[in-house]
Amino acid sequence: MTSQPAERAPSLAQLLRPDYHADPHLLYRRMRDRGTVIWDPYVHTWIVTGYAEAVTVFQDFLSARTPSAETFGRMGLPMLAPAADVMRRQMMFMDPPRHMRVRAACSALFNPVRVRRLEHRMREICSGLMDRIDHGAAWDLHADYAEPLPAMITTEISGLPLADWRQLQIWSDDFAALIGNFHQSRSEGDRLAASLDAMTAYIADAIAEQRAGEGRGLIGALLAQDGADPLDDAEIIANVIITLVGGLGTITNLISSGTATLTAHPEAMERIRRDPAAMRGAVEEILRYETPSQFSGRIAPADVELGGQRIARGDAVMVMTAAANRDPLVFDDPERFDIARTPNRHLAFAWGPHFCFGAALARMQAGIAFEELLRRAATIELVGGPLEWRENLGLRGLTTLPVVTTLAAA
Ligand code: HEM
Repeated sequence: MTSQPAERAPSLAQLLRPDYHADPHLLYRRMRDRGTVIWDPYVHTWIVTGYAEAVTVFQDFLSARTPSAETFGRMGLPMLAPAADVMRRQMMFMDPPRHMRVRAACSALFNPVRVRRLEHRMREICSGLMDRIDHGAAWDLHADYAEPLPAMITTEISGLPLADWRQLQIWSDDFAALIGNFHQSRSEGDRLAASLDAMTAYIADAIAEQRAGEGRGLIGALLAQDGADPLDDAEIIANVIITLVGGLGTITNLISSGTATLTAHPEAMERIRRDPAAMRGAVEEILRYETPSQFSGRIAPADVELGGQRIARGDAVMVMTAAANRDPLVFDDPERFDIARTPNRHLAFAWGPHFCFGAALARMQAGIAFEELLRRAATIELVGGPLEWRENLGLRGLTTLPVVTTLAAA
């Protein structure tokens, strides 16, 4: 009898395999079967799949983890040195006390009261996008609906010209790829470096223009800071970039993979059509089930024990948020999509000091996008074969979502 070859230890590097790329939960379950905290020998990082352990890491571990210019050089990607400079100024990669200074300056525009004032504008944009749809023929719900809405809203909130939303979306996708993937080729490094250079120059011009004239949105608010330690231009540019990245791709993915999930669960779709009050639970369940931000990195602040493992100070740790959102110790029947799930305290927006301050905006935008879509489309059918997922491993989303819809009676 021949023995089976030993199965390779599960690793984040395997997410590039087509089967795991199509359904990363196949890999996350293999990881969890080995323990809620395991060592990834290929990527040299601890992998956290348990919910309780994820909360501990989000709450207590360090966020300053970006590669330095020298590290990029050693990786054979010296062209990404300017990206290191941008990242170390971004709140997402900062720890106290630096973190709160930047976060407080940027987050004020995104509180729930301010966000509620945008409802009319969101409905207007959705309605305009739906007006252009040729019902009965195939159209791409990802490119023609899920991308423009958040890109237009975030462009406006940032204080940038609405006409530039498509370009901003392309630059943001590139920056998200830069921070979301584990390795880049030299040619991809060149492309991403050029993209960041163009985006940085564009925001610098917008700052100069608003400084000389009238301030608008986030940029205007940051230029008007009158505290003792206002953000300088390099900090404003870096944090407008991370806010754009936060507000663009993630909500797009929530809307398009959410629509795909709802069409695969017609009873859920039917329920939100019948009962608008069910929408809130549906958005939360999509966030849990198809977690747009799949994982987040951290650094151990001290020697600690977590999930039965000894983690040394300075070790890299990757929280697999999407896996924690299906932890059977916290969620009953976690593989089931259930829009009435209560409680549903998923970690899609993380936890603790870096909890996403765009959460209220994201929840409202997704809810309105689904409402307006269902109001205008009596039926939604996916066409065009199996779903195709983007290469960005950290921000999970579709490349396209071809659908045929039928027009609802007015
Ligand atoms: C479905 C939509 C969204 C998801 C799933 C999401 C997810 C997340 C997650 C998981 C984090 C924490 C990352 C970490 O700690 O490593 C985060 C932070 C952040 N998000 Fe979001 N986000 C979304 C929408 C938005 C929006 C609409 C904005 C702003 C317009 C935004 C801006 C940010 C910023 C600036 C941070 C960094 C906060 C900090 O470091 O203190 N996000 N987001």
